[in-house]
Amino acid sequence: MSPRRSVRKTSLFEAEAACYRATFRPSVITFLPTVPSSTVPIVNGVLEYLDQNRQQFEADLSELLRIPSISADSQFAGEVRRAADWMVEHLQSFGLAAELHETAGHPVVYAETNPVPGAPVVLVYGHYDVQPPDPLDLWATPPFEPTVRDGNIYARGASDDKGQMLTHVKSVQAWLAANQKLPVQVKLLIEGEEEVGSENLESFLAANTDKLACDCVVISDTSQFAPGVPAITYGLRGIAYYEIHLQGPNRDLHSGVFGGAVTNPANALNQMLSSLVDGEGRIQVPGFYDDVAPLTEQERQEFAALPFDETEFRNQLDVDGTTGEADFTTLERRWARPSFDVHGIWGGYQGEGEKTVLPSHAAAKFSFRLVPNQDPEQITVDLRKFLEQRVPPGIKMEIRESHRAPGVVFPLESPYLQAAADAIETGFGQRPVFIREGGSIPIVSTFADRLGADVLLLGWGQNDDNPHSPNEKFSLADFHRGIRASASLWDRIATIHPNS
Ligand code: BES
Ligand code: MN
Ligand code: MN
Repeated sequence: MSPRRSVRKTSLFEAEAACYRATFRPSVITFLPTVPSSTVPIVNGVLEYLDQNRQQFEADLSELLRIPSISADSQFAGEVRRAADWMVEHLQSFGLAAELHETAGHPVVYAETNPVPGAPVVLVYGHYDVQPPDPLDLWATPPFEPTVRDGNIYARGASDDKGQMLTHVKSVQAWLAANQKLPVQVKLLIEGEEEVGSENLESFLAANTDKLACDCVVISDTSQFAPGVPAITYGLRGIAYYEIHLQGPNRDLHSGVFGGAVTNPANALNQMLSSLVDGEGRIQVPGFYDDVAPLTEQERQEFAALPFDETEFRNQLDVDGTTGEADFTTLERRWARPSFDVHGIWGGYQGEGEKTVLPSHAAAKFSFRLVPNQDPEQITVDLRKFLEQRVPPGIKMEIRESHRAPGVVFPLESPYLQAAADAIETGFGQRPVFIREGGSIPIVSTFADRLGADVLLLGWGQNDDNPHSPNEKFSLADFHRGIRASASLWDRIATIHPNS
């Protein structure tokens, strides 16, 4: 981890937080101000174009949402490609020379506007792939038949990330339509493997470093803090994801005949997974917390000052309590502390009625969320050692590694961040708060390290958008506010001298 990312400079953060406290009103904003509240106006024709094309933009989003681009499921590889093709054609439809780049996995889509000498170059990153939609029976309307209810569009990928990603595409379209050119060069990099760990994007970046050279990276794939409280996210957790397989006897056995003498892999799996955490979720692998960057007192105070209501949080999830490390708040646990979760677990009989079987095999998918400065590779070494010591007699263990990404925290002292805060005020009528989030975007650390660019995480989503869950949605009001904020962002970034 470079010192650049582990040293937090807090002056802007303090200023923003103070400003937030001064301006925040708990009333939820349900409409856009008719006049942007900022002093730098968006070029007039652009705003008019945005207003006149609201329905068209929603129709375009709907079209993209109809394509089931599920990157994790190889049966949908053709659909993933169809979404990539749709992106290319869509970008071409308003004059960009969009390209489809093959990778060892799903294609990368790339387009750029004309260079603007002396002005910063902005790289927009997003993803057109989505998570699997199951369980299907819990969707009120089918996941790939986008439906508008109460001002929200419901579909898999609505918020994560087709709807959010498209806001930048639409703002570029509006600028070109109204003004023929943008005040900065915008490069659009839209990939199809974010939801499966962005494995092939690394090599694409390595092979295209010059092409992707930029001064800042803009990503809308996170959330606002709450309705009416837009946010800039300055930190994300990382991830280390595994699948564990335990092989017991060479065939399923009668548990009456063999139980108590032959190791049951499902029992063993249960014990081994349990040994990874204690009752409050503290991970038991030796050394796991050695490199964890502690929360500063300042940051804890800033988190505590956010309008987070613990009871409301529980009520929304219909849970009567929460758990986690003692001495940490819910926001601290979600944003800045590591965690362990089992994502799926199987083995033995799951059909109707009972079957007294001692299964020959059991398996689970699980992951750790990581924080700066934990090293996913070291975690993997330590995890293997820990589990190998706990394999009982009669069991063979296999651990498969998949996603790996380090946690990130970005410095708050950046002119680009200030430009983004102003643009958000223009789009949303409120200044953003600065937050961290618990999800992971695997490629962000590579952007910061390899491109040396400031990364702006400008989330337009809401915490209850249900990403990765049934009934995913995205507020159409936030869709349009996001487009407006993006349109304003190009203007504001244009006032910055690159490398200053
Ligand atoms: N958009 C999310 C990441 C995210 C979600 C950030 C919520 C902040 C708040 C992204 O699409 C995602 O789901 N990432 C995966 C990465 C994994 C598949 C390697 C994640 O976090 O589980
Ligand atoms: Mn996403
Ligand atoms: Mn996701």
